[in-house]
Amino acid sequence: MHLGRTTLSKFLIQQLNTRSDGGKLAALLVDVAAAIKAIAAMTARGALGASLGVTAARNASGEEQKPLDVESNTALLRYCEWGGLVAGMASEEMEEPYAVPEQYQRGPFLLIFDPLDGSSNIDLNVSVGTIFSVLEHPGEAAPTTADFLQPGVKQVAAGYAIYGPATMLVLTVGQGTHGFTLDREIGNFILTHPNLQIPADTSEFAINTSNERFWEPPVQRYVEECKAGKTGIRGRDFNMRWIASMVAEVHRILVRGGVFMYPRDTKTPGVHGRLRLMYEANPIGWIIEQAGGMASTGRGRILEVQPDKLHQKIAAIIGSKNEIERIERYHHEFDSGTDQPYTSPLFSERGLYRPEARR
Ligand code: AHG
Ligand code: MN
Ligand code: MN
Repeated sequence: MHLGRTTLSKFLIQQLNTRSDGGKLAALLVDVAAAIKAIAAMTARGALGASLGVTAARNASGEEQKPLDVESNTALLRYCEWGGLVAGMASEEMEEPYAVPEQYQRGPFLLIFDPLDGSSNIDLNVSVGTIFSVLEHPGEAAPTTADFLQPGVKQVAAGYAIYGPATMLVLTVGQGTHGFTLDREIGNFILTHPNLQIPADTSEFAINTSNERFWEPPVQRYVEECKAGKTGIRGRDFNMRWIASMVAEVHRILVRGGVFMYPRDTKTPGVHGRLRLMYEANPIGWIIEQAGGMASTGRGRILEVQPDKLHQKIAAIIGSKNEIERIERYHHEFDSGTDQPYTSPLFSERGLYRPEARR
């Protein structure tokens, strides 16, 4: 056993010692980590835990709630409400924000979370996760929904936990992205992946291709070119993965590069994407950026989007920098009409009439 390795608390104290409220932010993140350990224990019970199946309820996005969605949500509320660190919390599983009960002191932060991401996988014993984001509370009074509606650039901490073969916590407080592994014997998160860096180039993408007919042309173009592999303009073969747990896809990308897309689509009229801005796209987006990657809607930086609703959905295209720049270029060319000659197979970049083939 390596004594003296960097624990989460030691790491946070070191990273946050220059912030005036750094001690409180560190304490809040330690509370979040305590909730994550509880959720790790609950999910690890699997079929022995009597928490599988669905409840009769639906969440704010109209999705079925699983017992573990609700129990994970409760764990985060109970572990984080008592310490005078948060003024309120908002979650995928709660219609309205949760104000800290009167018996507790109100703190300077707002905590937002997706308590169990990928919960369609929970009955299958496939990796799931928790995603969280911390903002400053802009007022003194009990927070209103409007207080939560801050763009991702205002986050002061963001992270996710992945409940896989090992439980890991990956977080940023704006000084890089760092990964911790839960040592179950001693109950501590240990820094195992300092300064994660996403390779700028990749040959791997992740998207739910069953939605292909609903995508916009720039995304269809990108995926088609990846699938063409060596025989297409990319000149190399790509690989594809889809787990249906965003945290698991993102974790893979952080470790070995790649692109994850849940793009704008026309599947549900009026809804442009699947992922929620406040508690999925923003925290994951910041983690990816802090590891040298990019997080885009296809038409701009996710973190700069001003939210207008708590449960707002957004297109998310995230991962290796050079690939995201390429996908943004495809959106720009589509929007400005400059890709017109390339939308026909004959004029496509690998087609008969591409400029270099004409020479
Ligand atoms: P959640 O379980 O919190 O509702 O989130 C699920 C999300 C995300 O984790 C995943 O990438 C995506 O939904 C899966 O979508 P498909 O059902 O289209 O595969
Ligand atoms: Mn989710
Ligand atoms: Mn969820």
